[in-house]
Formats: sequence, C-alpha cells, structure tokens
Amino acid sequence: MRRRPFCLCFVALWALMASRHTEPAKASWRLHTNSRWIVDEHGHRVKLACVNWASHLEPMVAEGLDKRPISWISKQIASMGFNCVRLTWPLFMVTNDSLGLMSVAQSFRNLGLVDYIGGIRRNNPSLLDVSVLAAFRAVVTSLGDNNVMVILDNHVSKPGWCCSNLDGNGFFGDQYFDHNLWIKGLAGMATMFRHVGNVVGMSLRNELRGPKENLRDWFRYMERGAEAVHSANPHVLVIVSGLYYDTDLWFLGHIPMRVSFTRKLVFELHWYASSSGMVWEEGNANERCKDATDKVMSKAGFILNQGMPLFVSEFGGELSGQNAKDNRYFNCFFGVAAKLDFDWALWTIVGSYYLRRGIAGMDETFGVLNKDFSGPRNASFLQRISALQAPFQGAAPSKPPDRILFHPLTGHCVQRKREQEQLQLGACNESEAWTHTRHHTVRMRGTDLCIQADQPEKPVKLGANCTDRGSKWKTVSASKMHFSSDIVGTNVTVCLDIDFSTKTVVASSCKCLREDATCDPASQWFVLVNTTHLALTRW
Ligand SMILES: *[C@@H]1O[C@H](CO)[C@@H](O)[C@H](O)[C@H]1NC(C)=O
Ligand SMILES: *[C@@H]1O[C@H](CO)[C@@H](O)[C@H](O)[C@H]1NC(C)=O
Ligand SMILES: *[C@@H]1O[C@H](CO)[C@@H](O)[C@H](O)[C@H]1NC(C)=O
Ligand SMILES: *[C@@H]1O[C@H](CO)[C@@H](O)[C@H](O)[C@H]1NC(C)=O
Ligand SMILES: *[C@@H]1O[C@H](CO)[C@@H](O)[C@H](O)[C@H]1NC(C)=O
Ligand SMILES: *[C@@H]1O[C@H](CO)[C@@H](O)[C@H](O)[C@H]1NC(C)=O
Repeated sequence: MRRRPFCLCFVALWALMASRHTEPAKASWRLHTNSRWIVDEHGHRVKLACVNWASHLEPMVAEGLDKRPISWISKQIASMGFNCVRLTWPLFMVTNDSLGLMSVAQSFRNLGLVDYIGGIRRNNPSLLDVSVLAAFRAVVTSLGDNNVMVILDNHVSKPGWCCSNLDGNGFFGDQYFDHNLWIKGLAGMATMFRHVGNVVGMSLRNELRGPKENLRDWFRYMERGAEAVHSANPHVLVIVSGLYYDTDLWFLGHIPMRVSFTRKLVFELHWYASSSGMVWEEGNANERCKDATDKVMSKAGFILNQGMPLFVSEFGGELSGQNAKDNRYFNCFFGVAAKLDFDWALWTIVGSYYLRRGIAGMDETFGVLNKDFSGPRNASFLQRISALQAPFQGAAPSKPPDRILFHPLTGHCVQRKREQEQLQLGACNESEAWTHTRHHTVRMRGTDLCIQADQPEKPVKLGANCTDRGSKWKTVSASKMHFSSDIVGTNVTVCLDIDFSTKTVVASSCKCLREDATCDPASQWFVLVNTTHLALTRW
C-alpha cells in the first residue's frame, strides 16, 4: 500500500514528461472544401499561404541543397510565415526507374554539375548517395517536421525548366505527355505519399498549353487524373489547372467537372505581370489594374462566387523593387488578393537554380531567399506578404464581416493613433473596423466618428461631423482604390494618402487618376477588405 502513491506519482510524472516531450499539437492536416473555402476536420478555415519550391529541373533535386541543410530551409519557410510548400516534380522521376532511382550524386554527375556535389556532401551528407526519389521524400519529411504542409505539383514530364508551347510537355498528346503514363505517375505519387500526413494536396498538372489544347481532352483526362489520385489517396485535395498556362477556367462557368467524390476539388490559377498579355508599363496604372482584375475575374475568379475554391498557385515578380512593371502588378495583386482572400503560392523560395535553361547557378530574381540561400532577398517584401498569410475571413462566420482599410503597397491597414484623432498604418489584425456608408462616410465601427479631411496635405482626422462634405469619400479612379473627398468647407478635392516618414494617413492631391502612364498612384491605393478575424476593438 505504501508504495502505491509513489508509483502513481511516478507514473503521473512520467506521463507529464512524456507529454512535454511529444511534439506540439500539429495543425490538422486532413483538408477538404466547404464552398469556396479550404477547411480542416473541424470545419475551420485553413488558408494556404504557400511558397513554391522547385524540384522538377534536370537534377530532379529540390533547389538549394548544396547551399543549406534541408532542415534549415524548411525552418526558414516556416519562420517566414508560409504554412505550405508547392513542391514541383517531373513525371519521369516517378515513371522511369532509371531516373527516379538514380543517386543524387549520379544525377549531378550526368549533367556535368560536379561542382555541386561537394556542397551537398557538406550540407546534406545523407542525401548524396540516396536516390533522387528518396531525397524528394526527405524534403517532404523535413517540411512536415517543421509543420509545413506540402502540395505535390506535377510540373512537367521531362525534367527541366517550364514552359513553352512547343517543349513537348504542354498538353495531352505532346511528345512527352502521354495520358496513360501521366495517370500512372499521378497514382504512383499519390500512393507513395498516402501515409504522409503533411501532404495535403496534389496538383494534377502545371500550365497546360500549346497547339493541342482542347476542352474535350481537358475534361476526359483531368477527370481521369483526378479519380486516379483520389482512389490512391482519398485524403488529398485534388488541384486542377485550366488552359493557357493556367490562366483560363472560363469553361467551368458552363460545364462542371464531373468526379465521383465531393469536397476535395480545388482549381488553380497563375497570375504574373505577364499573364494574359497585360502591358503594365503602358497606360494609367489604375486602368491597367482594372483591366487585369477584370480579366482574372472573368477567366477564373468567378468560380469563387460559384462556391469553388481558387488557389493562385503561382504569382510573383522581381523583389528588387527595380522592375516598374512588376511593382505595378504587385500593388494591384495585393489589393485583389486581400479583397478576395484566396489561397495562394508565391513563386518562389528558391534563390538560384542548379541549372536553368543551360545556365548553371542562375540567380532567381523572384526568389524569397537570396542567391546563396543565406537569408531573405528582401525583408520588406516578407513583411508585406505577411498581411496575406493570415486569413481575413473564416469559412463559417457567425456574424457579418468587419471591414478594414488595407493599403496594398505596404501590406498594412489603417488604425487609430493611440489617444489621438489621427490615423496611421499598422498591423491588419490590430486595425480598426470601418463602415463605408450609403452616404459615403467612412465611419469607425462602434463610434460616431468618421474620417474627415480638414486641410490639404495634412493628416486626416476622426471627426464627429459626418454630414460635412469633408467626410464624403468616393472611389474615383478605374482601380476603385482611390478614396477622394473635398476638404471641409471648400471645393478642394483630395485623396487618402500616406506620409511615409510618420506612417500617418494624410489628405493630399490625387495622383494619376487617369491617363498619365508614368505616374505611380500606389501610395494612394486603399481597399476595404472583409474580415472576421479582427481582434476586439481597442478603443
Ligand atoms: C528512362 O530514362 C532514361 C534516361 O533518360 C532513358 O534513356 C530511357 O529511354 C527512359 N526510359 C523510358 C522507358 O522512357
Ligand atoms: C525591397 O523592395 C522594396 C520595395 O519594392 C524596394 O524599395 C527595396 O529597394 C528592396 N530592397 C532590396 C534589398 O532589394
Ligand atoms: C497580430 O499578428 C501578429 C503577427 O502575426 C501577432 O504577433 C499579434 O499577436 C496579432 N495581434 C492580435 C491582436 O491578434
Ligand atoms: C457640420 O457640417 C455642416 C456642413 O459643413 C455644417 O453646416 C454644420 O454646422 C456642422 N455641424 C457641426 C456640429 O459642426
Ligand atoms: C463649391 O462649388 C459650388 C458649385 O460649383 C459653389 O456653389 C460653391 O460656392 C463652392 N464653394 C466654395 C467654398 O468654393
Ligand atoms: C463583403 O461582405 C459583404 C457583406 O457581407 C458582402 O456583401 C460582400 O460581397 C463581401 N465582399 C467580398 C469581396 O467578399
């Protein structure tokens, strides 16, 4: 009898220690869809905030493993706030054993890339002599160890940089794109990762394209591919791309895709500055943004309104801030991405490629990591994208959404300065909720205060006289992101803007509302975004 309490204590202590040593509770990784949202087992929204990691080029090895240990890269991805990786793979790695079972060292040797072997030996010694498939699995495992979900993306058939119309990988019937082999490979990959919990989705094929594209084959083979993946692994989301380099799903507005399973289908879209022939540098930035957004909505965005999830599985641009076209595109993209709150995957975590189109060590100017994978290429971009990583809306909101005033250029939102009447930019999850009323006032929720411009080129104020003309804000440019009002008691028109030295919201003369092609309006762009995730109002 005397020993029992001791025993129990010991058991309890052991149990406590054991529980302390088990991993922190992992996010639930069984995902499905609920209308346009991706949700977990409990029905809570999971927003895919992914980054692409390329593993489909000639070596068939995830990029950067000569420069950093896998675990280091996985930890970077997680610490940068991405909850998921879209990991690309070439079909032949799975369907051709002489490729898939080749050792990593041999793969580099065959390509004459012996210089990388030393780096892999230093950074990832356990991978050098295993097969490229085993190295691929090790990448997936390492991401899982760091709580990062994975979407397996069949990027090409023949290993190599993607894409062009005539590269033989574009559409069913092309030189390297046999539909039976493709289905076999998809089923093989789905089976291989059947019991790997962090693999949450498989995208069937990247960027269908080329002269053979046609809808009959699209439906026939995409439906078969979807069934093959689902029957091999019923836990994964099945992600389906449209036509014309993954920019076009118009036909789903007329003909639904028919599959035997429910609540697993997700559609994907790619949106770059170059998508759909958009010429960002010509014409007024407001008009370009409107045109690009209209195009995206009519080709793919409409499916959100039809209750299907849209995963923008590739977007990105040069992160140097030096490419005017990409800067314009990003400003527009951030506004739309916040407003629609879709799931996404940025291109790319990769800082440079082993070999891209014949060039060894090629710098990736879109890469989140720098050329030598030693750190972020542009820390301010990471700060900006963090605004899009958290969901704005839940899948089953219990109350009507709040609206926050989002500033796409910075990824920040408008909030009240502590104890003051002025407004500033700050974290979106800590910002004020606003209502834009029928009378065009922008009122702070829970108060009688509204945004008021009482002097030009000065901070706007929270004022109580919401009937004055200085409190009537209308959207005035094609982008609908310029909020314009008169100054109190005058006919002087101003727009909401930011004074960057103090991050204060000011009223300044409206910039480039139309015509002017060279001028950049982005500091004056604001978007009202629905959110159900706002912290309790602080005031
Ligand atoms: C498999 O890949 C090897 C190396 O590229 C190639 O020589 C061979 O023809 C391929 N086999 C098949 C069945 O495609
Ligand atoms: C990061 O991006 C910003 C905004 O585009 C740009 O102004 C800045 O120069 C970039 N920094 C680096 C280190 O490239
Ligand atoms: C807002 O988000 C940041 C970073 O994601 C977090 O540290 C902070 O606690 C959040 N604030 C609230 C009020 O939830
Ligand atoms: C509010 O503004 C209107 C229009 O400028 C003005 O007529 C009215 O006197 C103002 N009310 C107060 C309480 O300041
Ligand atoms: C503003 O414009 C209106 C209509 O053009 C005019 O009647 C009014 O006198 C103007 N007010 C001021 C303060 O200039
Ligand atoms: C925002 O919420 C309002 C009110 O629920 C709704 O009418 C509107 O369509 C939503 N906008 C978007 C872009 O989701």
